[in-house]
Amino acid sequence: MSKRRPFVAGNWKMNGSRAESAALLDGVKAGVSNASKAEVAVCPPFILIPLAAEKLAGSAVAWGGQNLNVNKSGAFTGEISGPMLKDFGCSYVIVGHSERRSLYGESDATVAEKYGAAQAHGLIPILCVGETLAEREGNQTEAVVARQLDAVLAKHGVASLKNAIIAYEPVWAIGTGKTATPQQAQDVHRFIRERIAKQDKGVADAVRILYGGSMKGSNAGELIGQPDIDGGLIGGASLVADEFLAICRAAD
Ligand code: PGA
Repeated sequence: MSKRRPFVAGNWKMNGSRAESAALLDGVKAGVSNASKAEVAVCPPFILIPLAAEKLAGSAVAWGGQNLNVNKSGAFTGEISGPMLKDFGCSYVIVGHSERRSLYGESDATVAEKYGAAQAHGLIPILCVGETLAEREGNQTEAVVARQLDAVLAKHGVASLKNAIIAYEPVWAIGTGKTATPQQAQDVHRFIRERIAKQDKGVADAVRILYGGSMKGSNAGELIGQPDIDGGLIGGASLVADEFLAICRAAD
């Protein structure tokens, strides 16, 4: 099976002054060429999205949001909608990041709604799934990932994955420096792909499944070299241009 086009996305989380972000955007833009095989995107905090749009317009680097509200507009103080992200040129939006699930109480149902809202407004959702350490140690990894995935597939159908990206992010590996081994990651990626293939083999073969969790320049090549790992969703290492670009090169 030929592998899919690699994808590397930076999840800046709640980081970056205007000056730091401008320098980071310039650095990333300078290092990614139109000839890159890997698709590259950055997801800055909402307030920095206009800066990303200004800096990255016309470049090989796309940008996206880290979250969205399911409504189009209205009385939702503090929230940002899909059409607003689209208006600022976003192509992608992360949905169901484990920090949103654990710190802001987003349920599988909420995540599925956000996934649908993203697609309804022309954004490609990057759907995050992944187990906690306790769940892994309790042999629940597959059950948890299946439940998170199924919530979306039941509501939107397997064909919706033609316009989506999946990110497997084991919670115990996020920001901890403890990366999943290439084999641990590959096993879950294969499980996800096989689960989708039960509904539609063509969609399963085409959908990109990113790994996230302490990915860096030094381990990206081995991870992305696995048959079912198509790139990365990068947190900490996306805040340092050289480190992020090293991952992009590994994906290339
Ligand atoms: P990390 O974060 O690369 O800092 O582990 C990944 C993520 O949360 O998307």
